[in-house]
Amino acid sequence: MVILFFGDVFGRPGREALKKILPNWYKKYKPDFTIANIENIAHGSGITYSTLKDIDDLGIFNAYTSGNHIWNRSETKELLQNDSLPILRPLNYTKAFPGKGYKIIQSGAKRLLIINLLGRVFMKDKESENLSNLLLAVDEVLEDYSIDEMEITKDMVDGIFIDIHAEATAEKRVLGAYLDGRVSAIVGTHTHVPTRDEQILPHGTAYITDVGMVGPYNSSVGLDFKNMIQEYLTETKQKKEIGDDPLVEVGAVLIKLNKRGLADEIKHLRELVQK
Ligand SMILES: [Fe+2]
Repeated sequence: MVILFFGDVFGRPGREALKKILPNWYKKYKPDFTIANIENIAHGSGITYSTLKDIDDLGIFNAYTSGNHIWNRSETKELLQNDSLPILRPLNYTKAFPGKGYKIIQSGAKRLLIINLLGRVFMKDKESENLSNLLLAVDEVLEDYSIDEMEITKDMVDGIFIDIHAEATAEKRVLGAYLDGRVSAIVGTHTHVPTRDEQILPHGTAYITDVGMVGPYNSSVGLDFKNMIQEYLTETKQKKEIGDDPLVEVGAVLIKLNKRGLADEIKHLRELVQK
């Protein structure tokens, strides 16, 4: 099974870059599942009907993950309530929040369990007070699903894919070690800066701390430098503007799983495309 995953897709530059490269990448890598984190797809914050449609019309994506920014727009909450859409919100928000934190997505005969998690270290949004322990939240889901055919009481899936949307590298790496061998792949998002630590962990789980983003190359995590420099200089909040660099960075990972649902390969992909 081949999984192609894109890190945080940031605003219009991110969407346009995806439209440019994805048809070619789809032919080249032949993924069974194509997934993207889209919590920043609508002008850098949240998801709207029209921005979702913009990339969903490519007819390539199987599912979408998200993170802490999805509560910024009421429209995103509506989208999460529509169970027919393959959009996930972090699992470890309490049940009072709309949407689902895990879903089984089917592609041909293959079933992939996708779980979306949110880190708790350095997360300052007000909603983050409502986060439960992410390790225990995954354990609860893994009581019902498995990639290990010896676990006969559980629902067998061909792969288990986790997007851990988090700030702290240590928190992500600990999650990797905790779940190694029990899930197929754990990929990090949220910092928008890719890390060079992609690896297959000792018990066969593909892992990377951060995939990076699909967004303006010369920018502060997607935002224009001008106002951000002002914000740090004056220590007062400034208007956030999308970076207007003509170059857009595409950060992704390609993961190949074997028949046991564990990883044979993880490769980080990074390309710069002209807007
Ligand atoms: Fe985020």
